Amino acid sequence: MIIKSAEFVTSVASQQKLQDFGLPEFAFVGRSNVGKSSLINALTNRKKLAKASSTPGRTRLINFFRINNAFMFVDLPGYGYALASKAEQSQWQGLIGTYLEYSTSLRRVFVLVDIRHEPSEKDKQMLEYLYYYNQPFSVIATKADKIARGQIDKHLTIIANTLGIGKDNIIPASAETGYGLDKIRDLIENLVQG
Ligand code: GTP
Ligand code: MG
Repeated sequence: MIIKSAEFVTSVASQQKLQDFGLPEFAFVGRSNVGKSSLINALTNRKKLAKASSTPGRTRLINFFRINNAFMFVDLPGYGYALASKAEQSQWQGLIGTYLEYSTSLRRVFVLVDIRHEPSEKDKQMLEYLYYYNQPFSVIATKADKIARGQIDKHLTIIANTLGIGKDNIIPASAETGYGLDKIRDLIENLVQG
């Protein structure tokens, strides 16, 4: 799939402001700093479409992007940002939860985990949540450029075992080198058509 156009549509800060755009949606979730915004930029070949930052907890809103006038990318706030206040954390969780539960156009949730680390309790809770709401997901193991190619399979096994999913359900990817991005784009293309 070739991405011809990618445009920012809106940021949503509260549950009440969520709306449906009438296009299939692909949401990116995962802990703060895992690389959600960077992945959206890399997939769309736009350096600054979704703001990416070395400061964790940057994306505190749900950001909607319209791609090829055919589908939406949804950049969700990162969970598990330790320095956020309790009130802030529950505000984000409410926002993420409401979106995942009520979005009628959500076609696939991409759950991002860092390829270098064992997934956290929060990651496991996210999967349980998605199972509970029957929301189909795919796991993307980010920052694959940070480990040697020959180590990727070993890391995928650890992630698969920790999350209790099949290794073939995890796509290793790098926003830095572009590794794995075509696989994600092809998956999206198939889901948009299907
Ligand atoms: P929040 O918005 O805080 O939830 O974070 P995020 O998940 O959107 O992460 P973001 O894309 O802002 O990336 C966090 C940091 O990781 C930035 O410094 C990125 O440059 C870096 N990063 C993201 N993806 C990759 C990758 O594939 N490889 C490498 N080496 N660094 C990456
Ligand atoms: Mg972000």
